[in-house]
Amino acid sequence: MEKLEQRIRREGLILSDKVLKVDSFLNHQVDTRLALEIGQEFARIFAGRGITKVLTIEASGIQFAMAAGIALDVPFIYAKKKKAVTLTENLFTSEVVSFTRGETYQVSISQSYLTPQDRVLIVDDFLATGAALVGLVDIVKQSGAELRGVGCVIEKSFQEGRGLLEALGVEVHSLARIASMRPGEVTYVREAEA
Ligand code: G4P
Ligand code: NA
Ligand code: NA
Repeated sequence: MEKLEQRIRREGLILSDKVLKVDSFLNHQVDTRLALEIGQEFARIFAGRGITKVLTIEASGIQFAMAAGIALDVPFIYAKKKKAVTLTENLFTSEVVSFTRGETYQVSISQSYLTPQDRVLIVDDFLATGAALVGLVDIVKQSGAELRGVGCVIEKSFQEGRGLLEALGVEVHSLARIASMRPGEVTYVREAEA
């Protein structure tokens, strides 16, 4: 998505060769028009797949899942994060080991909102290590619903997330794929090389 790539170049703050801060338009302050356009782009990419639910994880995937849900005219669900608990009745739960945060947490959704009749699109803001997304894939599997794909706003292609998801047989589409970055320079993966 050309517009997104340009915006990342213009406003993204590269904090290290691995961490990109996009708080001025995606992750803290949100450019609402851009968020809606991102949703439309996901809807275009995943059109014709019969998507019935969009699934994301709190917090920063929510605005994009909502935008995709609006564009596809379906509800979105956001999985909740919490420390491990014992009472897990009526929840689909998966354990996530976050390398960046050095902690383990559970993601869960109510069993009421995903059924074997559902066809699911998972959406998130960043695809990095993929740990949280693998947890969502696991939840979809537990529910018996069919996973039709994963859409990410920004993919750091030099990290392992895409490979991890593809190894699970998941189709991944990211709107901006960063091959490498350093202050003042962001290089994108081009489809021909992808
Ligand atoms: P994860 O796979 O469990 O998400 O772990 P990872 O270590 O990849 O990322 C940890 C958190 O940091 C995630 O947010 C992820 O979206 C975010 N993240 C990863 N790389 C970047 C980056 O380069 N820039 C920014 N801005 N965020 C990044 P989260 O734990 O889901 O928290 P939330 O912010 O959604 O609440
Ligand atoms: Na996120
Ligand atoms: Na985040």
